[in-house]
Amino acid sequence: MAFPERFLDELIARSDIVDVVGGYVALTKRSGSNLFGLCPFHSEKTPSFSVSPDKQIYHCFGCGKGGGVINFIMEIENLSYPDAVRFLARRANLDVPEDDDASGGRGRRSRMLELNRDAARFFYENLSKPEGRAAVEYINRRGITAAMVRRFGLGAAPDAWNSLTDAMTRKGYTAYELVDAGLAKKNKTGGIYDTFRNRLMFPVIDIRGSVIGFSGRILGDGEPKYLNSPDTLVFSKSRNLFALNLAKRTKQGMLILAEGNIDVVSLHQAGFDCAVASLGTSLTPEQARLMARYTENVVISYDADEAGVKAAKRAIGILESTGINVKVLHVTGAKDPDEFLQKNGPDAFRVLLNQSENSIDYQILAIKSKYDLENDEQRVQFLKEATQMLSGLPNAVEREVYGGRVAAMAGVTPEAVASEVNRAFKRRLAEEKKKRERYEIRPSVTVQPRERSIRYEDVYSAAAEEGVIRLLLADPALLPDDARLCAEDFSSPFLGKVFGLIKSRASAGRQTAIPSLSGELEPEEISRLTEISQKPVSMGNAEQAMSDYIEKIRMQRLKKTAPDDLAAAAELIRRKKGYGG
Ligand code: CTP
Ligand code: MN
Repeated sequence: MAFPERFLDELIARSDIVDVVGGYVALTKRSGSNLFGLCPFHSEKTPSFSVSPDKQIYHCFGCGKGGGVINFIMEIENLSYPDAVRFLARRANLDVPEDDDASGGRGRRSRMLELNRDAARFFYENLSKPEGRAAVEYINRRGITAAMVRRFGLGAAPDAWNSLTDAMTRKGYTAYELVDAGLAKKNKTGGIYDTFRNRLMFPVIDIRGSVIGFSGRILGDGEPKYLNSPDTLVFSKSRNLFALNLAKRTKQGMLILAEGNIDVVSLHQAGFDCAVASLGTSLTPEQARLMARYTENVVISYDADEAGVKAAKRAIGILESTGINVKVLHVTGAKDPDEFLQKNGPDAFRVLLNQSENSIDYQILAIKSKYDLENDEQRVQFLKEATQMLSGLPNAVEREVYGGRVAAMAGVTPEAVASEVNRAFKRRLAEEKKKRERYEIRPSVTVQPRERSIRYEDVYSAAAEEGVIRLLLADPALLPDDARLCAEDFSSPFLGKVFGLIKSRASAGRQTAIPSLSGELEPEEISRLTEISQKPVSMGNAEQAMSDYIEKIRMQRLKKTAPDDLAAAAELIRRKKGYGG
């Protein structure tokens, strides 16, 4: 399957390996310029799966798998090369050139993004027109500053049936396109009308800066409070977060997860530029993984009401399963972060933030609030539920410390709680082990690194041949000309093939970074190549190193082809070296 080269380059450029891998693997450790996490391709307890943001490659030091972003998707989604390309294109909001016809016309995706951008501009511009007056009044009533209106690109959907649809039709968009993008709906007579009417508009912008959808808040009371774009070709509520496009740049070392868009705007306005919200769904695992790409710390700051507490409890589990440290912030004397900030200001909120409970305390208190501990029967229920929760903590010290706290609350001995917790903990371990075993016998997941190395490493000039390839991957300008080295000089067919590939690409003026080779090499070959590129290379004396490698390779080749005439071989090498300059 040949995709145009320019398209592939753009696709790779827009699919940052850290973002893509981060959607599946919590990259929680850093070593040098590399990030590390638990390998998704084999079972392990300490992270040996590395991602290099500089080289845009991944490599597992345990199982040997590696490659660029396309290989990663092929592997983890179990897709063919062309399907992995399509998968990433969808994610990056790029049209796949050959797919245009099949998906209903040229560039459906980019047309939809253009339409969304034009619609956002239309809503924004309404703020300075009479049609936007009600929204402006609402903005002022909520104390949102002009700076925030600009930063978030807020806007007004007028109180009319065809205001956006008319404006966009004038710009050349069809009724079909407007409905397709979720901005208009069909009426009974076959006409269309605006989806968003008389609302304060929040564009939803993804981490690459595309406007992918909208949330519209009612101006005042009424239902539904928020109306969101339906899921479309470019928008998925469960895979995006409001304001992550801004919050991903925060220097605060955490993300704050709030409930409402107004809370988020208020938080940013007060200097907490790390606030995000989910888009009208309760937090999803995809959203949690998305957050985990940017931070290890999330503070949940939902509304103070019962629904907020319940939603926070659910969110804790989802966030923790990605490896994120979770804290929960309670606003006191206000219904939500926005109201708290309006009443008490940023400094008071900072105090709350610093005091926010870690999720264990929070969960204990949440369980406690359900029971009357004066009542024996309820006390037993409390202990049952609390020990069950505590048994889910992987850390023994935590189980003990919080076990003590629970025991004190219920007025029983710490030992009694500890023995219950330990029993439940062992049961859990046994269950997890069973699950892991089921996972490990799946053949597609097991890997045999040995076989792989025998296949390629039976030749003694291999080190020099690998050295050449490693240098070329690091700096293509080092490519020796044909007279000095050609593919046939390599004793490893694989390395010779790679050398030939690099060479033919260079002569066509194309790059040869690993991520761009997925279409031309088998996954095992890409893994092998990635492994080779991982070994340290000193660029200080790269020219000299290249010459030495070439000499070794040619010497080996001559030893094989003309073993009796080593003098001639040495002479030939001297001449070849002179050639290269
Ligand atoms: N919600 C939604 N769509 C969004 C954002 C939020 O449907 N894009 C939902 C949430 O799931 C939650 C509620 O709306 O149930 C959030 O309400 P709230 O926090 O009260 O919203 P605010 O904008 O903060 O409104 P208020 O002015 O009442 O503070
Ligand atoms: Mn609110």
